[in-house]
Amino acid sequence: MAGNILVVDDEPVVIVSCERILTPEGYSVKGASSVDEAIGHLQNGDYDLVITDLKMPNKGGLDLIKWLRDNNSKAGIVVITGYPSQETIKDALHMGIVDYLPKPFSPALLIDVTAKAISFVKSKGIEEVTSEEQEITAKAEEIKNVIVSNKDRPGGLIPVLQQVQEILGYLPPAVLKLIARGLNLPVSEVHGVVSFYSFFTMKPKGKHNVRVCMGTACYVKRATEILDKLKDILGIEEEEVTEDKQFSLETVRCLGACGLAPVVVVDHDTHGSVDPVKVSGLLEEYN
Ligand code: FES
Repeated sequence: MAGNILVVDDEPVVIVSCERILTPEGYSVKGASSVDEAIGHLQNGDYDLVITDLKMPNKGGLDLIKWLRDNNSKAGIVVITGYPSQETIKDALHMGIVDYLPKPFSPALLIDVTAKAISFVKSKGIEEVTSEEQEITAKAEEIKNVIVSNKDRPGGLIPVLQQVQEILGYLPPAVLKLIARGLNLPVSEVHGVVSFYSFFTMKPKGKHNVRVCMGTACYVKRATEILDKLKDILGIEEEEVTEDKQFSLETVRCLGACGLAPVVVVDHDTHGSVDPVKVSGLLEEYN
């Protein structure tokens, strides 16, 4: 089982869609149409992830997040929201969400956000990292120095994340846990900030980073075909780097250029109306 998920939304269609999309991926999905019903499920079972709407009649998603925190729940939290920049998202970030889903979201984005959130919730601390992550352990002292020198600085989290990303090139889960402990913040808050700002990355990158938009407008214009073609050409899956370290591949939610859908961004270049058949030509510019 990939993980136990509770979906909380007053719109039954959202719950049914999440079940239909996530169950074939190996997740066990339960639904709740109100915060009170969700609390009932949480008191009677273990969940790895809670995906909750922020706006619901009577009690909203923030009430549920507060309950989860007050009850020291280990479940990660992903919020569903109409506008990711609205005030409630800021409140949710401070309360420790892992990630967010902008409404409406595509099946590919739901699968992607869920997989990343679950892998974060189940990830190890820095003391437990394996030998493949020797680079992280070798730089642990340097990272700890950055944390200590920013420890008492108000708003120190973002500068710490920037400096640590400069040292390692990315921000893996074990390091986020180290930062959270050092700054005395909930891990989920640190992860929420990293997910929210696109300049932070939790995975190593190649010389050229290829991002395929999986937002709704791009999804309906064959973004999945583009992604599959890129995986074939590069010989890697999402979040991986080619052996020669030339390319990395990732998916992103709406890039705000829906009129150009489907959109692929390579480094800082935006390519619009990408034809899945001609996508290999697009990469040739970067060889
Ligand atoms: S959905 Fe791809 S740019 Fe908006």
